[in-house]
Amino acid sequence: RAALAQTTSRFPFTPIAAQTDHAVHVPEGYKVQVLASWGDALFADAEGYDIAEGGPVAKSDRIFGENTDGMETFSYMGHQLIAVNHEYTNNDINLPASQEGVPASADDVLKLQNLQGVTVMEVAQGMDGWSVVVDSPFNRRIHHNTPMQLVGPAAGHPLLQTEADASGRQALGTLNNCGSGKTPWGTYLTCEENFNGYFGATGEMPSDAVIAAGYERYGIGAEGWGYDYHKHDARFDVSAHPNEPHRHGWVVEIDPTDPESTPVKHTGLGRIKHENAEVTLARDGRVVVYMGDDERGEFLYKFVSNGVYTPGGSTEGLLDDGQLYVAKFNDDMTGEWVALTPEATGMSAEEILIFSRQAGSAVGATTMDRPEWISVNPYAIEGYCCLTNNTRRGTRTNAGGDETPVGGPNPREANQYGQIVRWFPNDDDHAAQGFAWDLYVMAGNPEVHSDAYGGSDNVTAGNMFNSPDGMAFDQTGLLWIQTDGDDSNEGDFAGQGNNQMLAGDPVSGEIARFLTGPNGSEVTGLCWSEDRRTMFVGIQHPGGSWPMETGLPRSSLIAVSRDDGAMVG
Ligand code: FEO
Ligand code: CA
Ligand code: CA
Ligand code: CA
Repeated sequence: RAALAQTTSRFPFTPIAAQTDHAVHVPEGYKVQVLASWGDALFADAEGYDIAEGGPVAKSDRIFGENTDGMETFSYMGHQLIAVNHEYTNNDINLPASQEGVPASADDVLKLQNLQGVTVMEVAQGMDGWSVVVDSPFNRRIHHNTPMQLVGPAAGHPLLQTEADASGRQALGTLNNCGSGKTPWGTYLTCEENFNGYFGATGEMPSDAVIAAGYERYGIGAEGWGYDYHKHDARFDVSAHPNEPHRHGWVVEIDPTDPESTPVKHTGLGRIKHENAEVTLARDGRVVVYMGDDERGEFLYKFVSNGVYTPGGSTEGLLDDGQLYVAKFNDDMTGEWVALTPEATGMSAEEILIFSRQAGSAVGATTMDRPEWISVNPYAIEGYCCLTNNTRRGTRTNAGGDETPVGGPNPREANQYGQIVRWFPNDDDHAAQGFAWDLYVMAGNPEVHSDAYGGSDNVTAGNMFNSPDGMAFDQTGLLWIQTDGDDSNEGDFAGQGNNQMLAGDPVSGEIARFLTGPNGSEVTGLCWSEDRRTMFVGIQHPGGSWPMETGLPRSSLIAVSRDDGAMVG
C-alpha cells in the first residue's frame, strides 16, 4: 500500500458524486448520447416497431434486442461495427401487461427468443453524433434459434447428441449472452452464462446418473426461471431432450464482418456459466483465455492453446486445442493454475469440458465470491477479476457444489460489497502455472463500517461502490470498473447511490467515480470507437422510463465523449 502515498491523480476528469435519480451523469466536460435502445430498428422493414404493449412477434428479430451487456467494436474496411450481447428479457415488459410476464403461446416464446442473443450492427458518426446504420449489410441478429457449429474436443460426444442432431455438432442458438471477448484475429466472443434458466420439464426429469449430476451442479430443474420455453418449444423440454442443455454454456465465436458466417461454439473453453472471455497471448505467442464462472462458490479458469498465434496465419484450433486450467489460491498470496486432465480429475477429456465444474471440484479449485469480468492489463503482465459479492460464504452453494470457507481472495463471510482480485503470473508469462496475487480493491462502506466491511484503503466516502462486475482496461492503462449491485442507497449501501462506472489506476490503487446510471439499472459493457474519442457503455435493466420521459424503460447503449473531442481512453 506504500504506492498509495504517491497518488498520481492521472484521471482525465473530475470525479462525480453518487446519484439516485433516473438519469445518466458524467463529469463536467463530457457528454452522453443514447445510441441504440431496445426496439430500435436495425432494418428499415422494422421501422416503427412498437414495444409499448410488449411488441409483436413479427420483426422482433429485426430490432435491437433487450438488456444490452458485453460488447466489442471492430473496424473493417472503413466501417465501424459493434457486436453487442442481449443477455435476457424482462418478460413483464416484453409481454402484454395482462399476462404479467408469463408466456402464453409459441409466438410469445419465439419473440423472447428473438429479443436475446447478439446484435451485430454498423454505427457511424455524423453531425448529430452516433447512429445505427439501418440496413447496413453488416447488421445481423443472432438469437436463440440461429444455427451454430459445435467444435473442439467435445464436439460430437454422445452427451451433445440430440434427436434433431445426431452428429452432436449442429446446435441452435446462443443463450444468456453475458460478457464478451475479442480475439487478436478480429472475431467476437459471446459468453453463455445462465443458460440453465431456459430449460424445464413437462414430464419426468432424466434419470441417467451422469446427466442428473450435471443438472444438479448447473441448476437445471423442472420449473426453469419463468421463460417457459419448455411448455411451447419442445427443444427446451428436458424430459424429451435431455442433452439439449449440454449444447449451451459455451463461449461462442462470431465473425462480425461476415453476416453469412455460422457462429462457432468452442468446447475447448469448457462449459460453465461463462461471464466473459479475456484473450491475451503467452510470451511464446500461445493464446491464453481467462474465464470466470459466475455463481457463488464456483471457479476461475484459464485456457492455453497448443498452437501459436501468428498474425495473418491460421487460427484453426487456437480456442479448442490446448489445456484448460482452474485456479487454486493459497493463503500465502501465491496460487497455481491446476491442469484439468483425465489423470487429475478421473474424468474423460470430453467430460472435463462438458462438466468443467465437477472437474474443478475434483482437483480442489478455490471456491470464489462469484467471478464476473476478467481484464488483462495491456501494460503489465497481470490479470484482474471482479468477485462481485457473496453473502452466503461458509455455507454450501448450489447442490453438488463445494464448501466455501472464508479465506484467500474471499476474506469476508457476509460479503455484500465484493472485491477485485489480481494475479501476477510467474516469469511474466500468462502461460505460467504459478502466480502471486493480491486484492486490488475490497469494496465497502467506510461511513457505515470500521472493520473489513469498510473496504480497503483505496475506498473512501467519495468513491465507494458495491458489486463490481463489468471491467475493461483502456489503451492508456486505466481500469474501468462497472457495478451491478444494491442501489437502494440505504443501510449498508447508504451514500453509494446508483450503479456506476469508476476508473482505477492500477499503479497507485486510486479509484474515481466517472459515471452513474439511472436508478434500477446496472452499468455493463464497455468498448471504444476506433479513434478512441467515444466510449460506448451499456445500461441494462433501467428503472423509471429511462431514457424517455414516459413509457417503458429501455435498456440502451450510450456513447460518451468529451466536449473538446479529445480521446476518452
Ligand atoms: Fe451476466 Fe454474471 O453477469
Ligand atoms: Ca455481469
Ligand atoms: Ca452481476
Ligand atoms: Ca445483468
